[in-house]
Amino acid sequence: MSDHVETSEQKPSDGVVKAPGLKGVVALESELSFIDGEKGELIYRGYDIRDLAEHTSFEEVVHLMWEGELPTQSQLDALHRKLQAARDVPSEVIDFLRQVPDDTHPMAVLRTAVSALAHFDEETEDTSRAANQRKAIRLLARMPVCIAAFARLRAGKEPVAPLEDGSTAHNFLYMLNGEEPGEAAEETFDVCLVLHADHGLNASTFTGRVIGSTLSDMYSAITGAIGALKGPLHGGANVEVMKMLKAIDDSDKDPVQYVKDHLAAGERIMGFGHRVYQTMDPRAAILQGMVEALSEERDARHWYEYQMQILETMQTEKHIDPNVDFFSASVYYMLGIDIDLFTTIFALSRTTGWTAHLLEQWADNALIRPRAEYVGPRGKTVTPIAER
Ligand code: CMC
Repeated sequence: MSDHVETSEQKPSDGVVKAPGLKGVVALESELSFIDGEKGELIYRGYDIRDLAEHTSFEEVVHLMWEGELPTQSQLDALHRKLQAARDVPSEVIDFLRQVPDDTHPMAVLRTAVSALAHFDEETEDTSRAANQRKAIRLLARMPVCIAAFARLRAGKEPVAPLEDGSTAHNFLYMLNGEEPGEAAEETFDVCLVLHADHGLNASTFTGRVIGSTLSDMYSAITGAIGALKGPLHGGANVEVMKMLKAIDDSDKDPVQYVKDHLAAGERIMGFGHRVYQTMDPRAAILQGMVEALSEERDARHWYEYQMQILETMQTEKHIDPNVDFFSASVYYMLGIDIDLFTTIFALSRTTGWTAHLLEQWADNALIRPRAEYVGPRGKTVTPIAER
């Protein structure tokens, strides 16, 4: 069968739709999360994100996404135990992290580390649901260890082993800083993890599902998803937002003028706009309140003020609202996290959604394989190489 999509000749019965960027295309059914772009609402398996952010921990959300319902206390305890038991990263992977040049992009390091973890998992090629569920736990448990280990090694410090108990948020901040986090920092970070756990068929989740749909393995799919998240139009935007805020701060530039100048130069302002939301991203609204509180508490009110001026300018000039990356950036910064690690935090949280989507994909798999409209030449004949 020909691969050509001849839109000019196509008949409705061909079922061929041309949608650049797959804008507006519904590629599959999912029970995991839903975005109402007009109302600015996000739900995970029926629960509003605001409700979850206020009343549940990250691990409760992980259970919700993997199992379909919020856990009972004993189910939650069991999940904590499984994550604790799985935090042991093979020494070969830690050795690899020691050899990575210090200036390597942390998302590139994470991408390779996750790929390397596959080589030391006896179940990598076991495609049974039970093995995939166990791999999801190992990935979620080990990614924070890899990120924190790399961050310490490049700073000339030894990695810190995970604690025998404690949440993902607690352990990550502990392994990063070598000391137990305060309650407020842990709670703030935990909410950030809840907010990033899933988000419909975004680019990285789609990438993961495309890889999964070929019946490849979970590590391959997550490695690909990390590569997609790294880009500045997706998860990499949180790093770019903080670079912008620092540039404004360092140059004493008026934030309003900064935005106007960059828009006039035809540039995008990172942390704004979204493929699905036509209004404020509800995650941004939650994070906005967190930035206000943190900037007050840490005597760093200027970050909040810059961001509010940028937000108002973008709304007036472009009618574009902020997305999750706009306010998560300054939250992480005020928690003392290195700017270039921001996207890895997004990745560790989104591993929840990526793995849940893979389990959903494999429960009723169909190869994901769209088509391209061929716009190149036809009818050419080969000239022998000596005559070209
Ligand atoms: N700054 C300035 N103009 C923008 C922006 C922005 N941040 N976002 C969209 N626009 C303009 C864009 O120039 C275009 O204008 P025109 O029609 O005049 O050419 C119009 O809005 C539509 O943009 P688009 O790129 O066709 O829309 P899209 O749905 O493909 O883009 C997006 C969505 C997220 C790629 C885009 O809004 C963007 O580049 N934002 C900045 C990067 C960013 O913050 N990414 C994080 C996304 S949300 C969370 C995540 O996935 O990590």
